[in-house]
Amino acid sequence: MTDHVRVALDAGVLTLTLARPEKKNALTNAMYEALVREMTRAEEDGAVRVVLFQAEGDMFTAGNDIGDFVAVATGATPARNVGASPFLQALANATKPFVAAVQGRAVGVGTTMLLHCDVVIVADDAALTTPFVNLALVPEAASSWLLPARVGHARAFAMFALGRPVDGRAAVEIGIATEAVPAAEVQARALAVARELATRPLGALQATKQLMRDAGAIRAVMEREGEEFRKRLNSPEAMEAFRAFAERRPPDFSKIG
Ligand code: COA
Repeated sequence: MTDHVRVALDAGVLTLTLARPEKKNALTNAMYEALVREMTRAEEDGAVRVVLFQAEGDMFTAGNDIGDFVAVATGATPARNVGASPFLQALANATKPFVAAVQGRAVGVGTTMLLHCDVVIVADDAALTTPFVNLALVPEAASSWLLPARVGHARAFAMFALGRPVDGRAAVEIGIATEAVPAAEVQARALAVARELATRPLGALQATKQLMRDAGAIRAVMEREGEEFRKRLNSPEAMEAFRAFAERRPPDFSKIG
């Protein structure tokens, strides 16, 4: 159980709020578990027609909790128990529409999960980043396939390898987000669209979502990425990146061949 994900169901919209603002909503294993439980319920419960992801505080999420990465890298947690994996599966398998409300930064999985959302409302000044290579990791959530397919190889590589941010307006232009609005209006706008979707015929909505994405192919890419990700997580490069984050200094990869 965690208090870091708040859950509310109203008028067919299941709202999942990341509520760990003091740690920039970095996602812990317990938070992933809560999200997966609710996403599973959403699939099974006829009262849920739309899932809305949002976050408290000044940013959507700083991505996976780096402390949890370190626990795997040091062997304290077995790699197969990396909390993100069931969450990624739940994203891949979803058939009900997902809406996201994104203010501030969305880092790592905070951005790659948006590739599985059907409506993404971003703040004009949001910053979407996928700095996997800076952390000596590789892309996940099938983003190694989905992101270049959306935005082209050149932009996707700059995001993955150089950690280049994409702001809210650019995210709309290049097809990662649906609408950019002032930060103060993001959640209200996302809720309005979620409510609008909740009035649509659910069968047609689910069938449309399923026709628009190849869930089997997404799962296959996730599998490949997961193998490489787990290898990278245990690398000396990754340890240096995690140590540098904890020590609030830039990483130095020059001595790791
Ligand atoms: N995992 C664990 N803790 C995190 C975190 C993460 N991904 N991101 C932020 N935090 C924690 C910080 O350690 C800090 O904790 P403290 O107050 O106990 O020292 C707190 O959240 C606030 O973060 P801070 O870095 O002071 O905020 P900021 O506004 O200066 O910077 C970020 C925000 C997101 C730019 C910065 O925290 C960051 O780069 N985080 C790591 C992002 C990342 O690489 N995620 C993994 C992607 S695969």
